[in-house]
Parts: sequence; structure tokens; C-alpha cells
Amino acid sequence: MASGGRLFPFALVTLFLFLISPSPSLSSDDDKVNLSVYYESLCPGSADFIADYLVKTFETDLINIINLRMVPWGNARIDNRTGAFICQHGEDECYLNTIQACAIDVWSDQKRHFNFIRCVERNISKGGLQSGKVSAVYQEKSSNVAALKVWESCAEEQKLEEADIYKCYTSGRGRELELRYKTETDQLIPPHEYTPWVAVNNQPLYDDFLNFIHHVCKAYKGGPAKPLACNSARRGANSAVRGADEAR
Ligand SMILES: *[C@@H]1O[C@H](CO)[C@@H](O)[C@H](O)[C@H]1NC(C)=O
Ligand SMILES: *[C@@H]1O[C@H](CO)[C@@H](O)[C@H](O)[C@H]1NC(C)=O
Ligand SMILES: *[C@@H]1O[C@H](CO)[C@@H](O)[C@H](O)[C@H]1NC(C)=O
Repeated sequence: MASGGRLFPFALVTLFLFLISPSPSLSSDDDKVNLSVYYESLCPGSADFIADYLVKTFETDLINIINLRMVPWGNARIDNRTGAFICQHGEDECYLNTIQACAIDVWSDQKRHFNFIRCVERNISKGGLQSGKVSAVYQEKSSNVAALKVWESCAEEQKLEEADIYKCYTSGRGRELELRYKTETDQLIPPHEYTPWVAVNNQPLYDDFLNFIHHVCKAYKGGPAKPLACNSARRGANSAVRGADEAR
């Protein structure tokens, strides 16, 4: 009894320290803020946002409180006669949207697939891949050589295994994933008006999306400590992003 009595205060102190530990990395998934990004791969505004702004979530401790949901469909639609995807910036866009849907599926860890997507979008943002023919029709057997090179070199840079992506794309799995993203995008309330369309816990940020860190921090209800990134998140970033693409 005596030895148990002496251990008790120690256990209590340990428990207490654990309870007050202010690490945001301990925030449970329920507390995380859903940050959803509805975009299309060849849209200049989407590419800039992902490459230059969204990346900040991974460069700070902000990612600890975010459940990031990338939704690569944007303003695409389906030809209801042939079932083909029709994308605003041509078939390379449909192709890379699908490759990115596969990447999210195959590399489910958010940092892994985000780094891959960011690499592709940075290339596009820097003009590495020009937008193709407007409304060109999606080709199942892709001849998208330039787009293929971009994503392959990104997979290599990130040391990611490409085989599962080819398999996802050619098996029809990629198309299935894209159809789900289409449904989700079509069901947005209110409907998206352009891309990128950014929502925090389903609330669209409209043209204030460059201030997404401010909105994420405001929405965060987990405790006790907010991420350090929230201290420096002031409103007022200029939301004028070039080339946002209007929904049709
Ligand atoms: C395609 O679907 C849309 C919406 O369901 C419909 O309004 C349109 O008439 C359809 N077009 C053709 C060619 O079937
Ligand atoms: C884009 O990727 C291609 C293929 O790897 C590469 O040749 C090109 O230099 C890249 N462009 C930019 C601007 O990063
Ligand atoms: C975030 O999304 C998940 C589903 O992915 C949902 O279960 C959860 O309730 C959402 N959280 C908030 C705060 O909307």
C-alpha cells in the first residue's frame, strides 16, 4: 500500500502535464478545419494559388489543424452524347485532373499528394505547359506527351512510384474518381462561380480566398493553442489573382 501511495502523485503530475500539453499536432480529426479547393489543373489562377499560397500550409504548423481536400474537376463537364470529359483548357487539363485524382487516391497522405500536385502546378504556373485547345475532348488513350513528362518528372522528383498512377489511369479508376469530384462540385451550395473556389468548412471564401489562413484560424475550434501560423495571419492579402476561370 505504501509504495502505491508514493507513486500516485507522480502519476497524477504526469497525467496533468499530458492534459495541458499545448501541441496543435494533437488536435483530433474532428477538430480539424476542412479546407476544400475546387480547381482545374491548367487554370492559371488555380496553378498560382496552389504553387504560391496553398503551399504555405505545409511550410508552417498550419497543416496540423487542416484537413485539406483537393478537388480537381473545376469547370469541366461531360458530353452527354459520348460520355467524354470536356475541359476548359483542353484535353491536357482533363488528363492532368485525372492524374491528380489518382495521386490523391494512391498517395493518400496529404503531404505526399500535395507535394506532387504542387510540383505539377508550379510547372504550369511558370508556363511549362501551355493551355491546349479550348474544349478539346478527353482522350482515353492519351497522347498528352508534354503533360505526361511534367507529372512523371514530378513523381521522380518526389521519389514516388509511378506504376500505381498508370494503373489507376488506364483501369478506369481515375475516371470513376473524377466522376465523384464532378458530383461533389456540381452539388456545391452556393454553386462555384470560378476556379479556384476555396471553402472553409463548406463556406466559400469567394474572392477573399488568398486570405484562407485567416479564415482557417478563425474556424478552428480545437484547443487550447492555435498554430503559430495563426499569429501572423492578418487579413488583407491582395486577392487579385490572375486568370481565375469563370464557371460556364
Ligand atoms: C445534356 O444534359 C443537359 C443537362 O442534363 C441537358 O440540358 C442537355 O439537353 C443534354 N444535351 C444533350 C445533347 O443531350
Ligand atoms: C516543366 O516540366 C517539363 C518536363 O519535366 C520540363 O521540361 C520543363 O522545363 C518544366 N518547366 C518549368 C517552367 O518548370
Ligand atoms: C470535415 O469533413 C469531414 C468529412 O471529410 C466531416 O466528417 C466533418 O464533419 C467536417 N468537419 C467540419 C467542421 O465541417
